[in-house]
Amino acid sequence: MRDKIVAGNWKMNNTLDEGISLASEISNMVADEVMDDVKVVLCPPFIHLSSVSKIIEGTDKLYLGAQNCNDHTSGAYTGEISVDMLKSVGVQYVIIGHSERREYYGETNEFLMKKVDTALAAGLTPIFCCGESLEIREKGEHFDFVTNQLTESLFHLSADDFGKLVIAYEPIWAIGTGKTASKEQAQEMHEKLRAHIAGKYGEGVAEGISILYGGSCKPSNAAELFAQKDIDGGLIGGASLKSRDFVDIVKSF
Ligand code: 13P
Repeated sequence: MRDKIVAGNWKMNNTLDEGISLASEISNMVADEVMDDVKVVLCPPFIHLSSVSKIIEGTDKLYLGAQNCNDHTSGAYTGEISVDMLKSVGVQYVIIGHSERREYYGETNEFLMKKVDTALAAGLTPIFCCGESLEIREKGEHFDFVTNQLTESLFHLSADDFGKLVIAYEPIWAIGTGKTASKEQAQEMHEKLRAHIAGKYGEGVAEGISILYGGSCKPSNAAELFAQKDIDGGLIGGASLKSRDFVDIVKSF
């Protein structure tokens, strides 16, 4: 059985007080309402992590994730955050390779390989993001593009390490646009990704990997997406900032 996971990527939103309120609301709602076996990962900004960690401590479904980490373990990298710092405040997951970081901060497949290695070596679970632009999809190159993102950043890993990852497919054209991939489009890509993983690591590893969908996922479309056989949950942006919407998505399996 693959893990069912819903992760909320708050991006650069909320002051600390607002973040504490949001995390508290989500924590209470999840405790009261979520009966399913699902892992709920909150990925607030760095400065919220320590406070959110205390809020979710002792809960059985909530986990803490960071939105980024540095590829080095320590040293003279002004303004950066290391994996050990993240672990020291209770972080278990880290988003790596989000399209916004690829686009605005020039993160390449090759560079992301180093971040994945650093995160895994520290015992963090990378949530590795992949996804194509509209232009690439319109050219019909989306399957090659996205599978290549996995090949170039992840296929140096041992099967054992690969099995520790979570993958998130986030078509760039669906992020923050209100335009979700249809359940068929999402399932088709997830199936291709799983087959690509199986080709390298075998069916056993591929079947065990959770592949999340992200891109304008909301309460009204989460259930049909999560019902697809290769979709194991979601990476949620905008809707993760509203406790009611986020928890309704968590309840959509
Ligand atoms: P939206 O849910 O706002 O489209 O964002 C998706 C995303 O980028 C999550 O990482």
